[in-house]
Amino acid sequence: MNTRSLGETAQALVVASRGLLAMDESTGTCNKRFAEVGIPQTVEFRRAYREMIVTTPGLADCIGGAILYDETIREKTRDGTPFVDILVEAGIIPGIKVDAGAKDLAGHSGEKVTEGLDGLRERLAEYFRMGARFAKWRAVIRIGEGIPSRGCIDVNANALARYAALCQEAGLVPVVEPEVLMDGNHTLQKCQEVTDWVLRATFSELVAQRVVLEGMILKPNMVLPGLECKKQQTVDEVADATVGCLLRAVPAAVPVVAFLSGGQSAELASARLNSMNVRFQGRLPWSLAFSFARAVQQPAMEIWKGDDKNVPAAQKALYHRARCNWAARRGEYNAAMEN
Ligand code: 13P
Repeated sequence: MNTRSLGETAQALVVASRGLLAMDESTGTCNKRFAEVGIPQTVEFRRAYREMIVTTPGLADCIGGAILYDETIREKTRDGTPFVDILVEAGIIPGIKVDAGAKDLAGHSGEKVTEGLDGLRERLAEYFRMGARFAKWRAVIRIGEGIPSRGCIDVNANALARYAALCQEAGLVPVVEPEVLMDGNHTLQKCQEVTDWVLRATFSELVAQRVVLEGMILKPNMVLPGLECKKQQTVDEVADATVGCLLRAVPAAVPVVAFLSGGQSAELASARLNSMNVRFQGRLPWSLAFSFARAVQQPAMEIWKGDDKNVPAAQKALYHRARCNWAARRGEYNAAMEN
């Protein structure tokens, strides 16, 4: 394993205030989002949508890595150029989602375990040959009555660590994503407690599996009140709760923390990331970046609607969100950028 090159890739993914673009929706998730905005759910519409994204002019100004899905990493633009070549040419490092999705966890009603370890070594070798230099695995933790359980947290942490070790063996930087969901009426305090627990369990397993912390990226949730919680904290309160939690649980050797957006509005995700970078500037051991899917893509998808003539406007919207988050990394985002 070349530890130094893993560390260099991790840094390169977010250099110059850039972030990651998650465009790795599974076929099911992509179809669900298409259905919500009236786009036909076919392989050709999914391909055309991803072509719209990867050919967005100037995207590499703000995006250092794009996370693809198995279907997407094999696809080409209409004129026959592989998406991977388009990205590399632009200066965006291709990545790949390698988990097989969150499945019901036996004996744990309402909880999930992420699968996909079987055959992973061989799949990682194939993705590396195809040009991927980093990978993603998402674990899902739900807060509710009596959950999460220790069984759920431990099994997901162990799977994340086994995945991360295999990635590093294959020369890919693992993006380790333990997501505590926003769904529910829990308080911010509860989210903080659970996120702290999940992160500690995850790092304990990462260390046990001999994952090189310098050669990974953590992709956590922000610490937020549940979507249905009556008390919704301010942007700055969320920033303080999130960074406080990370400072207690994430080792300083980790080079990059890149948040998921998790269903927050695009504007709030940018504002909260910005606040963290303003309030803790110069006081953090890791860079605080983004690895958003919905908070970068959603406005563009709603404009595109599956129609070729909307491509330029959709690309403009995509670039705008990427730019807002680039600014948020620098602590330079403000509401006026939205006009
Ligand atoms: P969201 O930003 O939409 O939460 O997606 C991030 C992601 O990659 C989920 O795995």
